[in-house]
Amino acid sequence: MTGAPMRGTDEPIDLRSDTVTRPTEAMLEAMRAAPLGDDSRDGDPTVVRLESLAAARLGKEAALFLPSGTMGNLLAVLVHAGRGRDVLVDPLAHLVGSELAGLVSVAGVVPRPVASRAGQYDLAALERALAAAPSGRVGAGLVWLETSHNGAGGRVLPLDHLRDTGRLAHQAGVPVHIDGARLFNAVVALGVGADVVAAPADTVMVCVSKGLSAPIGSLLAGPVELIGQARALRKMLGGAMRQAGVIAAAGIVALETMVERLADDHAVARRMAAGLAALDASLIDPAAVETNMLRLDVSKTGRSAADWASRLGALGIRVQASGEAQLRLVTHRHVDMAAADRVVAAIAQAA
Ligand SMILES: Cc1ncc(COP(=O)(O)O)c(C=O)c1O
Repeated sequence: MTGAPMRGTDEPIDLRSDTVTRPTEAMLEAMRAAPLGDDSRDGDPTVVRLESLAAARLGKEAALFLPSGTMGNLLAVLVHAGRGRDVLVDPLAHLVGSELAGLVSVAGVVPRPVASRAGQYDLAALERALAAAPSGRVGAGLVWLETSHNGAGGRVLPLDHLRDTGRLAHQAGVPVHIDGARLFNAVVALGVGADVVAAPADTVMVCVSKGLSAPIGSLLAGPVELIGQARALRKMLGGAMRQAGVIAAAGIVALETMVERLADDHAVARRMAAGLAALDASLIDPAAVETNMLRLDVSKTGRSAADWASRLGALGIRVQASGEAQLRLVTHRHVDMAAADRVVAAIAQAA
C-alpha cells in the first residue's frame, strides 16, 4: 500500500515536514526479509543493491548510502572543495541555514552567497563570482544547487537553469553539487527522469526519508573515484554502519514504488494553496506552489508566525514557523484532499 492511511476528521494533521511520513507495510516487510551483512566490513548485499539502484536512477557511476542528507551534503563539500575554498551558494540554501555550518567547522570551506531568486542564480552574478575571488580568498571550489528548493517554498529549478549553471561552473573548472533532498519532487514536477535533472551536476544527494517515506536514509551519487573518497570520509564522520540493509531495504521500496505518488502530494498542496489564496490573497501565490510545500506570508495578518503556529496547533494542525512572518506547510502521504480542506477551514477559523 502506498497511499495515505485513512484518518478521522479530528485526527491531528502534521504539516511540519514530509520527514514525518511513516514506513509503508511493504517497507516493513522488505526490512524483515532483507539479506544482511556488515556494510563496514565485507559489505551488506541490500545496501549494495540500493546503492546500485540509486546510481542507475541518477545516471551516475556510483552511490553511497548514508544516515542523513546533512552528511551527504557535507561529504560533497569535503570531496570537492579544498580547505579555504568558497562554495558559491544561494543564501536561502538548506546548507547555509540549517546544517549547523558543517561546511565551515568540519570542511574548512567558506560559503559565498550569490544573488538568487526562487533558488535560481542571477547567472551574471554567478559568472562574476566564478571569475574572481574576493581579495585574500582562495577562490571557488564548488557551485551549489538545491532542487526542489526548501527555503524558496518547494520551487523547482528549471532544467535550463541547471544546465546553464553547470556550464558556467565547468567552464571555470569548478564542480557542481545538487542538494536533492527532494530531487524526486522536482523530477515528478518536471516530468523527466532523475538522471536528466542530475546530469548537469558532478554529484547529487537524495533523501529517501522525506516524501518517499523510508524511515532513514540518503544517498550521495557521482563518479566512482569521488564516491570512494566519500566512503572513506563517511567513516571519519561516524556514518559507517553495520547491518544497514535493514534500512536500505526500505530505501529500495521507496525508489521503486514511491516516486510517482509524489504527484498526489503536489495536488494536495495546490488545493490547499488555492483555498488559502481565496481566503486571503496576501497569504500565498498559488502559482508559486510547484511541489509539496507552501510558504505562507503572514506579515499582513497582524500576528507573528509563532502565534499562528500555536493557534493552529490548538486546532490540531501542526505547522512550522519560519522566522517572524512565514509558516511552512509540507504535504505528504498522510495528508489527503479532505485534510487540505480541513487545513483551509482551520486557518479561516484561526483568522
Ligand atoms: C533541502 C534539504 N537539504 C538537506 C536536508 C538534510 O537532510 P537530513 O534531515 O536527512 O539531514 C534537508 C532536510 O530537511 C533539506 O530540506
